[in-house]
Amino acid sequence: MKVLITGGAGYIGSHCNRYFNEQGIDTVVLDDLSDGHREAVQWGRFVEGDFADRELIKQIIAEEGIEAVVHFAAFASVPDSVARPQRYYDNNVTKMLALLDTLVTNGVKYFVFSSSAATFGEPRYTPMDEQHPQEPINPYGMTKLIGEKILLDYEKAYGLHSCSFRYFNASGAANDGKIGEAHNPECHLLPLIIRAALHGEPVLQVFGNDYDTRDGSCVRDYVHVNDLAAAHFLGLRYIQEHNVSEQFNLGSNTGFTVLEMIEAFERISGHKVPYEIAPRREGDPAVLVAANAKAKKLLGWQLTQSSLENIVKDALNWEMNKKY
Ligand code: UFG
Repeated sequence: MKVLITGGAGYIGSHCNRYFNEQGIDTVVLDDLSDGHREAVQWGRFVEGDFADRELIKQIIAEEGIEAVVHFAAFASVPDSVARPQRYYDNNVTKMLALLDTLVTNGVKYFVFSSSAATFGEPRYTPMDEQHPQEPINPYGMTKLIGEKILLDYEKAYGLHSCSFRYFNASGAANDGKIGEAHNPECHLLPLIIRAALHGEPVLQVFGNDYDTRDGSCVRDYVHVNDLAAAHFLGLRYIQEHNVSEQFNLGSNTGFTVLEMIEAFERISGHKVPYEIAPRREGDPAVLVAANAKAKKLLGWQLTQSSLENIVKDALNWEMNKKY
């Protein structure tokens, strides 16, 4: 089987591309390198281009015999989506529609979609299972929710079987340091903790200490990027075996506050983190923690790398030795 991975030069996409190849699945990575890195694609074939380019997609499907698409290519920064929503609706919704139509007209039947915990909004209860209401509080989350809804309609009308994964907080890096997290600008907590600890600046800003949580800072569910990669493999296999569409929350059932993450990093790494309390960041829910029973039960998904120790060790190793 050959799989097209859009956005496979990005953070989660590159780890997934590697994992698929290690499981014996051939891949073609399509990425326009707007956020991704050519150096991250060390497995499979690489094509530079736009996932909404209908002619290009048609050509790749025909040439390579693509049977399934794993779609990572999207803009994925919550604060940027609040500042520049138009980019998010255009890239994550309009262009995704162009991709889906090209797949449907060219006979591709399986689609794995990068959705997000940001589709949920403020928690009504935690941990959040798949039945939790989806009421996004930022444009990024809304674009991902629209993507999920489009896929439900495409299943009914066109028989496109899909698996939507709502990632909680992807973190960590490859165990051997070959690939890792490299956003520009970086807005994610753990890389910024590490940079503050290693270089002393910029001092980490803790966005808000007045949330209704254990210590007032936001709670998130940190899941190792390799565990996410494995879920994509299992999810694709599941929709191919059952010819259905499903949604899964991918997290660890456990949340840590921002201040707990700082403490854990200091304990595990031995490095001190300079930080200051800053105002809340717009678009941030207080708590996002996944109930992952559905993914465990239906997919047989197991978290093997998502201990904080492992996440911190791999992320630190990557930051200290990164190649791109
Ligand atoms: N945070 C800080 N200081 C920083 C950066 C982050 O205090 O400098 C806090 C945030 O306020 C938040 C937590 O650390 O409470 C995690 O923030 P991240 O930016 O690392 O991650 P988010 O939870 O905002 O977003 C991530 C993904 C999104 C996804 C979301 C849903 O980047 O794509 O998880 O869980 F939508």
